[in-house]
Amino acid sequence: MTGDRRSYESVFIVIAVSKEIGKIIKRLISEGFTEGRDFIRRSDLSPVTPSIDISGICNLRCLACPRSDTLHPFENGGFISVADYEKVVKKLLQELPMLHIIALYIWGDPFLHPKLPELLKINSDLGVGSDISTNLNVQTERLEEIIKANPTYIRLSCSGFGSKNYEVTHAGAKWDIFYKNCVELSRLLKKYNPTTGVELYFHINKANISEYKDIADMARRLGFRTVACISLLFPQYAMMFDENIPLPEPAERAKELMLISMEDMLSAAKSEAKKPCQIKNAFPNINWDLSVLTCCNFNQDRLADNFLETNIDELIKLKNSSKLCKKCVAHSMHRYYDIPKYNSHYIKELLLEKYNMPSYI
Ligand SMILES: C[S@@+](CC[C@H](N)C(=O)[O-])C[C@H]1O[C@@H](n2cnc3c(N)ncnc32)[C@H](O)[C@@H]1O
Ligand code: SF4
Ligand code: SF4
Repeated sequence: MTGDRRSYESVFIVIAVSKEIGKIIKRLISEGFTEGRDFIRRSDLSPVTPSIDISGICNLRCLACPRSDTLHPFENGGFISVADYEKVVKKLLQELPMLHIIALYIWGDPFLHPKLPELLKINSDLGVGSDISTNLNVQTERLEEIIKANPTYIRLSCSGFGSKNYEVTHAGAKWDIFYKNCVELSRLLKKYNPTTGVELYFHINKANISEYKDIADMARRLGFRTVACISLLFPQYAMMFDENIPLPEPAERAKELMLISMEDMLSAAKSEAKKPCQIKNAFPNINWDLSVLTCCNFNQDRLADNFLETNIDELIKLKNSSKLCKKCVAHSMHRYYDIPKYNSHYIKELLLEKYNMPSYI
């Protein structure tokens, strides 16, 4: 596209791809197009992002994640069957026809699912994108099939460069396996050139912040985007902290490693208490056994036993009257997850000013 916006008076653009969307938007704006008036993203047509926890198990015991807490019944988890998965996606598309993407994770690791490539194929055959987040600490022979199935996004979760810090916070993980899989993933991206956007999602804490530059350099070498976030105690633990309920020992260690103290995080969240829930569009959240979570931030409270037997209007009604949401809002946990005060601009300035590290964010 060349020339200025006036040459395209009657054009209205829907950006249907996700890869390099930032570059596309920048280009459109530089040509005089305005978001909303002249172009929209596909996600604007369907702001809801459902998630399906295809793997009800995880191979790790990360300190900050309530999944690791033995109080919770995850040891008995399992995998969604291909047949159930297909039924779930078809029902979602019937009820949310403009749906553009589904997250294939909540509290487990999607790369553990033995039929992940088949699940991805179901999504692409039905015209809906797939969002995956993984610890990539799996011995996977399926990586090639996964890349060939062209998921929309893959997030690689990481909390260090090298074993020293990474293996503490990603408890049970091995840096060598993570690194080897990253290199293999990079090779496959070059070989198949899928439209998949891959990001290395770095959970910054007090111990690993000095490793940020190394991780960002590694990501750049391998062709991944780096996204940094403040490493958090998950909201389920944060609410316990706010209620003065003692945390399990691993969560206590994760809290001590946090770059921003829990007190400061909560006070920033409470200053936003009147604002709406940040994740209200992350809905519905369906477990591997078809039960439906009230919220993806809390792993025990359920709205329904079987998604396939409960229509979406009923789920919305149940959610709107849920005790969990009321309690969560009373503790300002609905504003805790992505606090504007500690967002990417904050991280960028912190890296540059305090650590003299150029940000790659
Ligand atoms: C519960 S995990 C499930 C998916 C997968 N097991 C993983 O870890 O990527 C969901 C999301 O939480 C993020 N996460 C894990 N620990 C975190 C932490 N300490 N701070 C912020 N986000 C974290 C992960 O990066 C992931 O995208
Ligand atoms: S953060 Fe992900 S990898 Fe870590 S324990 Fe939780 S579900 Fe597993
Ligand atoms: S109000 Fe709280 S519990 Fe309800 S959806 Fe939002 S974050 Fe989840």
